[in-house]
Amino acid sequence: MRNILVTGGAGFIGSNFVHYVLRKHPRSHVIAYDKLTYAGNLDNLEDVADDSRYTFVWGDICDEENVDHVMRAYRVDTVVNFAAETHVDRSLTEAGSFVHTDTYGTYVLLEAARKYHVERFHQVGTDEVYGEVMNGSAAEGWPLEPRSPYSASKAGGDLMCLAYSTSFGLPVTITRCTNNIGPYQYPEKVVPLFITNAIDDQPLPVYGDGTQMRDYQFVLDHCEAIDLVLTQGRPGEVYNVGTGVETRNIDIARMILRLLGKPESLIHHVTDRPGHDRRYSVDSEKIRALGWAGRHSTEQALEKTVRWYLENEWWWRKIKSGAFRAYYQKQYTDRLAHLSNI
Ligand code: NAD
Ligand code: TYD
Repeated sequence: MRNILVTGGAGFIGSNFVHYVLRKHPRSHVIAYDKLTYAGNLDNLEDVADDSRYTFVWGDICDEENVDHVMRAYRVDTVVNFAAETHVDRSLTEAGSFVHTDTYGTYVLLEAARKYHVERFHQVGTDEVYGEVMNGSAAEGWPLEPRSPYSASKAGGDLMCLAYSTSFGLPVTITRCTNNIGPYQYPEKVVPLFITNAIDDQPLPVYGDGTQMRDYQFVLDHCEAIDLVLTQGRPGEVYNVGTGVETRNIDIARMILRLLGKPESLIHHVTDRPGHDRRYSVDSEKIRALGWAGRHSTEQALEKTVRWYLENEWWWRKIKSGAFRAYYQKQYTDRLAHLSNI
């Protein structure tokens, strides 16, 4: 891992990973490659901008020429692909960009990785590719049954990675992790949306009855898992990454309000997400056997996250007063017009 290409490095998990690698691997050079979509933000990388081991390159993973140029110019030996369209709600109204980036973009990166004989191509995947898991926990060999355009596009990316491993012997690994929370998460996702709304005494829009469940992990625990798979994981293998603890959305809302000292009357049940997956759950024994164990409980992860948003209003207020506003209005105005307090 001398020259690591971190695609999507200006996004939430990607920027945390850039910070993590610069701290953990003093001899590595990190090239963050990002298209800076609405979710990409150079503020996330402001504090490493002067680090000589870090370079930012603006670019699209679907742009074959630019990807080829970066791989060659920086002698990339390791690719970690975070670049993706990531929000399920947006995938319900604009699926095309998800198919393009999450599936086709992954193919473009794989081709370049193959051409330049990279030592490792790591794909950052999601537990959502297993679909709704109503009983038990999905192991890596479970069938992929994605149900949203987002998860279907991510499944396409994963399958291309496995195909490049089988067909061309490309040293590919995949992690499929559960919901991350922590610093720099764009406030369209439920946890930062609820925290920042609650700070401003605005409603917390809980979809449906709020009994859907997610497994929330602290983003740096996930970064450690990726690092471990990069160094100890077997090429061609998939590793699930989850805490094994699921929390209902309504309880996440209540925990956030409790941490902020805000009333539960801010909770509003609104129209549900179409096709809403009720539960995700992964079996993470395989990565635990490699030695990974998340360091944070859900409560600790949430507490750190709430504290970060309280201490970094400069970061999220800019976002919430910009283009995000139009998105929020489109996504929530009708929903909140029919709001019902609990
Ligand atoms: P994010 O939306 O915060 O960031 C995505 C980044 O990718 C942004 O910086 C964006 O500008 C960039 N990007 C988008 N399209 C691009 C393109 N065509 N070319 C180059 N850059 C592009 O996402 P995130 O939450 O940090 O997720 C990172 C990865 O982790 C994604 O692959 C996602 O599927 C996966 N993942 C996320 C979670 C989660 O809870 N956030 C859970 C499981 C898996
Ligand atoms: P989200 O953060 O969008 O992640 P994902 O759907 O990819 O897991 O949503 C997490 C959960 O929170 C999911 O069950 C949907 C729910 N949710 C709400 O109840 N209200 C909201 O405003 C949002 C964005 C999500």
